[in-house]
Amino acid sequence: MLIRTEIGVDAAGIDRLLRRCFATGTEADLVHQLREDAQLTLGVVATDDAGQVLGYAAFSPVIMQGEDRGWVGLAPLAVDERWRNQGIGRQLIFEGLDTLNEFGYAAVVVVGDPAWYSRLGFMPAAPHQLHCKWADTEANFQVYKLADNAFDGITGDVEYSEHFNRFA
Ligand SMILES: CC(C)(COP(=O)(O)OP(=O)(O)OC[C@H]1O[C@@H](n2cnc3c(N)ncnc32)[C@H](O)[C@@H]1OP(=O)(O)O)[C@@H](O)C(=O)NCCC(=O)NCCS
Repeated sequence: MLIRTEIGVDAAGIDRLLRRCFATGTEADLVHQLREDAQLTLGVVATDDAGQVLGYAAFSPVIMQGEDRGWVGLAPLAVDERWRNQGIGRQLIFEGLDTLNEFGYAAVVVVGDPAWYSRLGFMPAAPHQLHCKWADTEANFQVYKLADNAFDGITGDVEYSEHFNRFA
């Protein structure tokens, strides 16, 4: 198993994985459109020895106070059912955080289960006056700080790209 940055040849395997892992094609269509519109900051894949995609994490830009401040959102995250509970989800996220850090991104946000994401170093966003506009996300909206000064002078709504509204 290999964890690495997505390359062009992975697109079809990522699409198939997302269609297997989620009940509808929404996530697959979302990733396709983000990629088409150059709104996919980073994709991380887990592949088996034959190069088949068995896990995926996507990161795309989010806007803070109407500006791009080098923040990204993690979504979607998926691991093939047969490969779950072996730490692949966690490794995909860590690889993503490492790469984003290397390239100077400031922070990563996610809407997900706090019990799981807190184990990976994410913290609740609300105490930092950071909020997601989507309904009922307050308790699940979390942030991971990459840059020491990421939060300096930054509060308010974190806006995902319009692609997310289109596919919501
Ligand atoms: C979420 C998902 C990516 C996790 O992948 P994974 O490779 O199994 O994750 P890991 O092996 O790194 O972590 C597994 C651990 O986290 C827990 N865990 C995994 N996903 C969780 C979730 N969404 N909420 C709470 N706990 C979760 C598991 O119970 C397990 O706990 P343990 O370490 O105490 O045994 C995978 O379950 C999946 O693809 N689910 C379907 C798609 C989905 O719901 N994606 C998330 C929303 S975009």
